Amino acid sequence: MALIELSSDTRTKPTAAMRQAIANADVGDEQAGEDPTVNALNERVADLLGKEASVFLPSGTMCNQIAMALHCRPGDELIAHRDAHVIVWEAGGAGHLAGAQTWGIDQPDGILTVDQVAAAIRPINRGMPRSKLLVIEQTSNSGGGRVWALDRVEAVAALAHSHGLAVHMDGARLMNAVVKSGISPARFAAPCDSAWIDYSKGLGAPIGASLAGSKDFIHDAWRLKQRFGGAMRQAGIVAAAAVYALDHHVERLAEDHANAQILARGLAEIPGITIDPTTVETNLVFFHLRKDGWTADRLATECRAQGVAFGAFDASRCRMVTHHDVSTEDCRKAVQVVRTVLAG
Ligand SMILES: Cc1ncc(COP(=O)(O)O)c(C=O)c1O
Repeated sequence: MALIELSSDTRTKPTAAMRQAIANADVGDEQAGEDPTVNALNERVADLLGKEASVFLPSGTMCNQIAMALHCRPGDELIAHRDAHVIVWEAGGAGHLAGAQTWGIDQPDGILTVDQVAAAIRPINRGMPRSKLLVIEQTSNSGGGRVWALDRVEAVAALAHSHGLAVHMDGARLMNAVVKSGISPARFAAPCDSAWIDYSKGLGAPIGASLAGSKDFIHDAWRLKQRFGGAMRQAGIVAAAAVYALDHHVERLAEDHANAQILARGLAEIPGITIDPTTVETNLVFFHLRKDGWTADRLATECRAQGVAFGAFDASRCRMVTHHDVSTEDCRKAVQVVRTVLAG
């Protein structure tokens, strides 16, 4: 039985055409600035994000780590959503590598308000850490893939800048927001000092992310890329997959969003499951389980045994993620499996 893999959009495998692009890649020494595929990608992404420069990195996590280390000095504080990737999923890197402490804001849909950010920025006081960085996660993962509206990005960024904070956009799923809203990546990134996109999520490449910012910022980012072990050699092999993904896998994210709606609407009809499909804006589908004797973990385990994989986030919250490697038919089947398992 083939597994319907809804755990994450990181589970995509490179397509035959992407593998062909990888095989044909023109390569050189990336660390020496001599890989033509990486160099072309860097220029393209700087343009795409409307910044002066960009740098290719092995992962989105490294984009965040480098940005935090450049924007903050040890003892500074960064502000993000309470469950933001930079706070929860980067193994304490904000504290260890940037020396920054974190302030997490609780907001169910992940989209911080101006008032919340204003309240989180500390007054200038010798005894307090300096608020130095605001991190915006576009889309918000723990917020259920919600899209930050452009005017909200602009408003919180203007507030942050007026208090001397830098603004960084974690764009792991920025392209989902772009496809959903029709707003260009450059416009979303414009209010931010740094921003990145990830190739290994919905875009379906095996590895890689690009961090963009001013020329000076990217110049300094290179030193940290080297220090963190992210400087590569014939990296055109992986950059070719990123180029292919930008050429062929952006518009199709709309299919993932449509499939997420099929999941959300189907799940909403199952007794014991709570989800409001109108809150599902992109490819992340969170739902709650409220049924005696059932936990999210039990449901995920039993469904996996029936060929449908997804994540259990806490006692009652599950997450399904649509992506390149799941079809509309797979999503319909997944709903059916959840219904049968819960009934039985
Ligand atoms: C919101 C968000 N930021 C950052 C990352 C890290 O990206 P990567 O897996 O490329 O390190 C992820 C990965 O799941 C993510 O969901």
